[in-house]
Amino acid sequence: MATETTTSSAFVQGRGLSKSFGHVRALQDVDIDINEGEILAICGDNGAGKSTLTKILSGVHQPDKGELHVQGQAVRISDPHRARELGIATVFQNLALVDVRDVASNLFLGREPVRWRFFVDRRKMLADAQKVISDLRVNIPSLTVEAGQLSGGQRQSIAIGRATSQNGRIIIMDEPTAALGVKESRKVLDLILRLKADGNGVVVISHNMRHVFSVADRILVLRRGRLVGVKHKGETTPDEIVKMIVGVDIL
Ligand SMILES: Nc1ncnc2c1ncn2[C@@H]1O[C@H](COP(=O)(O)OP(=O)(O)OP(=O)(O)O)[C@@H](O)[C@H]1O
Ligand SMILES: [Mg+2]
Repeated sequence: MATETTTSSAFVQGRGLSKSFGHVRALQDVDIDINEGEILAICGDNGAGKSTLTKILSGVHQPDKGELHVQGQAVRISDPHRARELGIATVFQNLALVDVRDVASNLFLGREPVRWRFFVDRRKMLADAQKVISDLRVNIPSLTVEAGQLSGGQRQSIAIGRATSQNGRIIIMDEPTAALGVKESRKVLDLILRLKADGNGVVVISHNMRHVFSVADRILVLRRGRLVGVKHKGETTPDEIVKMIVGVDIL
């Protein structure tokens, strides 16, 4: 039953979230709390429902069942634009950068500052882009280099910069380190820690237990669309999380 307010202080609260695609039950009755100033990792095997959950939170999919509250208010997150209005920004698994456009354009894709109604204000866009890049302290050769020429870690940073500059108080990242080497992963993990230090809530999906344990405060595990449990990092081990992911019963 939808209520006007909730007692939880979580910035985002999902309850009983379910989603099917045809016969596939991608998500069944999942609860999630996302807090500001905290990093929540979502773990689970391939097909466990991680991306589906983040897509519900970011307005890409509508849940078949369940409730969402943001800052205590019952909400319907109809699309990603609405999610951003509510303070939820997402870096999707495939990043969606346009390779043939430069860093600044990618940072402001679809919301470029305009002059005289419809001319892109390049100068303002470059100044704004410079601020985003400096705030994140990421290393980019130039704002005018095409995204296609950047390394995996730099591309990830641009996608994260786009999310943080969109009023994101909760930043959701779907496998931000999956395609990265050791050094680049470290940079992205540092960036995630800085976002937390700035007071943002971060949701990170990862298959990498070392990455999860190096940044997460809490770890949520999904298996076959169901919530297995949520653990504080201090009260669990990578071994236990892996058992939760694969199902202790089959070990
Ligand atoms: N748009 C869709 N149409 C049909 N089935 C889908 C769709 N999106 C997800 N599914 C199915 O829902 C289930 C959960 O998928 P999801 O992408 O959420 O998994 P995941 O945990 O993100 O996996 P991975 O680690 O491989 O990214 C899978 O069985 C998947 O095939
Ligand atoms: Mg996924």
